Amino acid sequence: MLSFLQLESLDFKSVLLFFVVFLFIADYLKHRKPPNYPPGPFQWPFAGNVFSIDSKQPDVYMRKLAEVYGDIFSLRLGHEETVVATGYKMVKEALVGQAEIFVDRPYSPMGERMYPDNAGLFFSNGMKWKTHRRFAMTTLRNFGLGKTLMENAICEEIRYLQEEMETQKGDPFNPKMLFNNAVSNIICQLVYGRRYDYSDYTFQKVLKKFNEALYLEGTIWAQLYEAFPVIMKHLPGPHNAIFSNYLDVADFIRKEVERHKEDLDPNNPRDYIDAYITEMQSGSGNDDFTESNLVMNSLDLFLAGTETTSTTLLWALVLLIKHPDVQKKVQSEIDTVIGQSRPPSMADKASMPYTEAVIHEIQRIGNIVPINGLRLAGKDTTLGGYFIPKGTSLLTNLTSVMFDKTEWETPEEFNPGHFLDSEGKFRRRDAFLPFSAGKRVCLGEQLARMELFLFFVGLLQKFSFSTEEGVELSLEGEVGATRTPLPFKVFTHTR
Ligand code: HEM
Repeated sequence: MLSFLQLESLDFKSVLLFFVVFLFIADYLKHRKPPNYPPGPFQWPFAGNVFSIDSKQPDVYMRKLAEVYGDIFSLRLGHEETVVATGYKMVKEALVGQAEIFVDRPYSPMGERMYPDNAGLFFSNGMKWKTHRRFAMTTLRNFGLGKTLMENAICEEIRYLQEEMETQKGDPFNPKMLFNNAVSNIICQLVYGRRYDYSDYTFQKVLKKFNEALYLEGTIWAQLYEAFPVIMKHLPGPHNAIFSNYLDVADFIRKEVERHKEDLDPNNPRDYIDAYITEMQSGSGNDDFTESNLVMNSLDLFLAGTETTSTTLLWALVLLIKHPDVQKKVQSEIDTVIGQSRPPSMADKASMPYTEAVIHEIQRIGNIVPINGLRLAGKDTTLGGYFIPKGTSLLTNLTSVMFDKTEWETPEEFNPGHFLDSEGKFRRRDAFLPFSAGKRVCLGEQLARMELFLFFVGLLQKFSFSTEEGVELSLEGEVGATRTPLPFKVFTHTR
């Protein structure tokens, strides 16, 4: 006869076994694929493919999967069913052809913790996103985007940057933080109405926190948090720094908001924060305009407006140092069109096709957002002949567009000729999508294009660039939220 203790332990074992079997069956049923769902690699119960993805180069890994499964394939990243679109035609069909269906972002445990209540510009959805996106675009335009005022502010920042670079007196230095600060000052002027000196310790600390968080967002720690938030929330590890860093940056912005409130004149808003507070206080009846939303929107503008453009400028240095002939040709065009005595202006762009082509090719090869922002299928649809049920996440692999063999003559090579016609005139290319496309296309594209042209020309007008003797700069890059060059040092030679 079984003793009482044996009976108790049998019961416990049975319950445990039943529970485990129940979990497996529930997981299987929840993730059962409908007919004609895109194919994909084997998915482990609970974890799906989260452990098989190469977190160092997820975009490259996904391109390899596309060679096996085709331009539309499926993955499971933790509990999220994800469909990956590969190549220009498929990405365009999803983002532009089905723009209304793929307008929202999927649920993200990290996004929810960092941006509670559907806040911010990047993670938000629905009316709240639409209203705030429109408000941000109108306000940025009112404060100078696309106008001479903005050009002058950028050219003034370039002068500060040039002066700072001259203080290096020809010694090699890592330009990352300096570029970060200089570029950030442009969005700071639009959002906070001020710039921060390169020696401002508090601001440098904020930029470093941002950089660290963005790097960590691309690591396996962030992927594990997205896949298993309930467990990861309680575990120690680098992922916790993502949240604490965001909180520190939000605190910094909150102080800026308080500073604005002290001397706000609703009839003369000076920047985005003033305009937003004025809207909040206007009694327009839109409850979405709240102070916490203001902080998170400003954080998104600050983040997106800093890291992206400055990383592109870092790739510009890497590529020009690797291709001194291209560097010389750009400088010769600058000398012919602008000369040395006046700053560049956007009006010069039309007369500088080679420079324009080089900037585009830097963006293509630099490929700073290899994996685009995720989208969500708002209703059942078909893509590439496959059935995509409502609620599936869509990942558009921008690397596969920028290096699409069917679109580019020499996809793996740095070749400004991709953007020049037979007469040397600038030519647009459809498959050039660094800012993405469709309803969620980068909100700052116009500002970024202006910054890239003016900073790039301003730097090459004044300096030539090289690196330390015997050092071969790498094109590999480090993939976090953006793809940044590995740390490198640069020599500046005043021209
Ligand atoms: C070279 C510079 C830049 C690149 C390559 C870039 C690229 C991108 C990409 C790929 C997206 C995701 C779009 C999608 O999900 O389809 C995005 C979104 C966004 N970008 Fe940029 N960006 C740049 C500069 C900027 C600047 C200067 C700002 C500041 C105003 C900015 C603000 C934003 C915002 C707010 C979003 C979210 C849009 C939304 O979800 O509605 N970006 N950007």
